Amino acid sequence: MKERLETDVYFTPREAAKHLNLSLSAIKNYIYANKLKTLKTPGGHHRISKIELLAAMGEGEALPVKTEDYFADMEDCCMALMNVYKLLGELGNFFISHSVRVSEASYKLSKALGLSHKDILQAKMAGLVHDIGHMAIDRRILLKPGSLTVQEYELIKLHPARGEELLNSIKGLKEIADIVGQHHERIDGTGYSRGLKGKDIKKTAKIISIAEAYDSMVSDYFYKKPVSREMAISEIMEEKGMQFDSELVDIFIKII
Ligand SMILES: [Fe+2]
Repeated sequence: MKERLETDVYFTPREAAKHLNLSLSAIKNYIYANKLKTLKTPGGHHRISKIELLAAMGEGEALPVKTEDYFADMEDCCMALMNVYKLLGELGNFFISHSVRVSEASYKLSKALGLSHKDILQAKMAGLVHDIGHMAIDRRILLKPGSLTVQEYELIKLHPARGEELLNSIKGLKEIADIVGQHHERIDGTGYSRGLKGKDIKKTAKIISIAEAYDSMVSDYFYKKPVSREMAISEIMEEKGMQFDSELVDIFIKII
């Protein structure tokens, strides 16, 4: 027991909730129902051992290893999926480098926000495949030089839904599919594909949304010139609370 006390890690209920991606009330319910044993501090606060926590969730001590393997497989899968962009030639190379940058920025932002390990990794993976639905859009539209007609733009707007469909067909990528499907939603509810609003949009999708918008502005694209970092930040600031989540914008501009 002494040895276990020395090697185990102890969480507050809030930390335990974050670790397992559960709500704080779910953890409290486990404690009150005696499904989760705790130690009490001299001040009467609950502390939960990591070993106890994993055992109570039916995962045992092997969970961290299993989880890491699982996420590594999922990330490999997302990296492999990006290869299909190569079918688009030069534009495909743009999509690949854009996706890698969006993934890196999303990873940094979700870390700065203190999200759970699972959410951080999912934001990173969703960044890699967020635009994969473009592969289901007519190539003549994707490769068209110059501006698009209203109808062509409506077809481009199908890419989050097409990406979601594709990723949903791959075992284990369901949550990534949800994020991808929501990455063009807006806080004010005027985005696409579903017109979701505020809290109905996953935080990880809101992260991808800012990271994608920023990278699209500062990158050289075959039909447009890049804008400066300062200009891109000011454009994002202008959309605070409308296109983008205000809290996320405040942190993003500090880390980018
Ligand atoms: Fe997109």
